[in-house]
Amino acid sequence: MKIAILKETAAGETRVAASPETVKKFVGLGATVAIEKGAGLNASMADADYAAAGAMVGTQAAVIQDADIVLGVQGPDPKALKNAAKGAWIVAGLDPLGQRARVDAYAKMGAEALAMEFMPRITRAQSMDILSSQSNLSGYKAVVDAAGVYGRAFPLMMTAAGTVSAAKAFIMGVGVAGLQAIATARRLGAQVSATDVRSATKEQIESLGAKAVFVENVAGIEGEGAGGYATEMSDEYKVAQAELVSAHIAKQDIVITTALIPGRAAPRLITDAQIVTMKPGSVIFDLAVSQGGNVEGSKADEVVIKHGVKIMGYSNTPAHLAADASALFARNLFNFLSAFWDKEAGRPVLDEEIGDAIRLTKDGKVVHERLLG
Ligand code: NAI
Repeated sequence: MKIAILKETAAGETRVAASPETVKKFVGLGATVAIEKGAGLNASMADADYAAAGAMVGTQAAVIQDADIVLGVQGPDPKALKNAAKGAWIVAGLDPLGQRARVDAYAKMGAEALAMEFMPRITRAQSMDILSSQSNLSGYKAVVDAAGVYGRAFPLMMTAAGTVSAAKAFIMGVGVAGLQAIATARRLGAQVSATDVRSATKEQIESLGAKAVFVENVAGIEGEGAGGYATEMSDEYKVAQAELVSAHIAKQDIVITTALIPGRAAPRLITDAQIVTMKPGSVIFDLAVSQGGNVEGSKADEVVIKHGVKIMGYSNTPAHLAADASALFARNLFNFLSAFWDKEAGRPVLDEEIGDAIRLTKDGKVVHERLLG
């Protein structure tokens, strides 16, 4: 059983899909691990540490030769996989809906492509959930980087020269990233408020010591729904939400938006007319910028200044925290493969619930229901 890890090739991708720690654990399971030279460099993981953990460190060709499982952060180029074993597994964040042609190419070469972002959100799969581990770090990074471009301090400071007042931070969308953003902004000393369409988040916001700001006159989403996800809201709700946000946002210094609806473009939460009302020097970090953006006028990887407000967001936020993001991503992959490790077969064997949820291709065909018909 050979596990291969290639250097990521997507623009701006700094992460790596295995760490010395997970290499050692895979070797402990009896696998042979090979990693492309320099694969971990941008994530502060050195070739020597991979070698010390038991990996073969080599060229792309040597690493991929006869590999049974290829691990990636993003989907590897199908051309690089030519000499992998027949039916090799490709285990990565594969962006199945955005990168359909690549999925088709995996099918054509007979590979079994497993999309980690389709991992079901069930209790036993929590430790395998790349969306959670990466969102957590993104929520933190958004606050820290917003603080970096904000020309003022976050905490209340009483100095001999006078008082610096605390920044007011508003978090829109309280999923995994939003909860971490609340916690981080609180730790930095900001006065924090937050909103979501899911009523269940109210208690979570308050338990983190922040103020919940919710639409009261139109019903939001009750319960945890299918996997606890939001859906597109009614026009009536959108109007009520826009009014609520307009009244609140003008008083905020830092706004972090994290709202996503699975399978759809991100909902628009802040319009230009609302940005005008904000104080000059305020900062908006749009964590949804690469999925269409929550904020009118936000541009990935740029700080746009509109009406004196700085609007920012990254196309790949976890890549700005490459070492920690890689370490957690690598553990998600190890937790997944080791949970299904069949000692006799010397390889992982998936069960139906998780296998069917994440398997995109098999035996030369695209097999996932979300990609068919
Ligand atoms: P997400 O990244 O899909 O969305 C972020 C947040 O934006 C969500 O809280 C969503 O309700 C909110 N949102 C969407 N439209 C909005 C709008 N118009 N206005 C304001 N907010 C809006 O969400 P994420 O972080 O993936 O988490 C979603 C849920 O999944 C949570 O309940 C979380 O606890 C649950 N979860 C369960 C896991 C498991 O059991 N394995 C793992 C991770 C999360």
